[in-house]
Amino acid sequence: MISSVHDCVILPLNKIHNRAGNITIIEGQRNIPFDLKRVYYLYDIPSGEARGGHAHKDLYQLIVAAGGSFDILLTDGENKKHISLNRPDYGLLVVPGIWRELSEFSSGAICLVLASHKYSEDDYLREYKEFLSFRRKS
Ligand code: TYD
Repeated sequence: MISSVHDCVILPLNKIHNRAGNITIIEGQRNIPFDLKRVYYLYDIPSGEARGGHAHKDLYQLIVAAGGSFDILLTDGENKKHISLNRPDYGLLVVPGIWRELSEFSSGAICLVLASHKYSEDDYLREYKEFLSFRRKS
């Protein structure tokens, strides 16, 4: 079934708190609806810079503001969704076939991404036109 921005939801994550601080644990298929194959994070993002600007054919991701805050614009080619992430105990699930743009990174922001597959450039749709045509064919 073809995906929609409505399938991209904020997932509350667990948080174990004690006086020495907090810990949040994410296990594939337990706290998120996919197996984890890869983790990466964006950091030292200069003020005013944007990231993303692409979609994935098969990849599921959970995006977490592990530090600071940033905004995410999602589109499925018809509907748009704007999300602000600013808490390490919430993550945004991004399903395949959704165009994303990340911007408004705060100073010191850390964008943690958990991904369902290893890196493959073939999985990227980097041109918006190519993205729309991929969706039409799906
Ligand atoms: P890209 O996904 O385009 O970054 P963003 O969406 O944050 O703007 O990746 C940036 C570069 O890093 C690009 O040359 C591909 C490379 N890269 C890898 O080699 N492996 C990875 O797992 C990722 C996410 C990116």
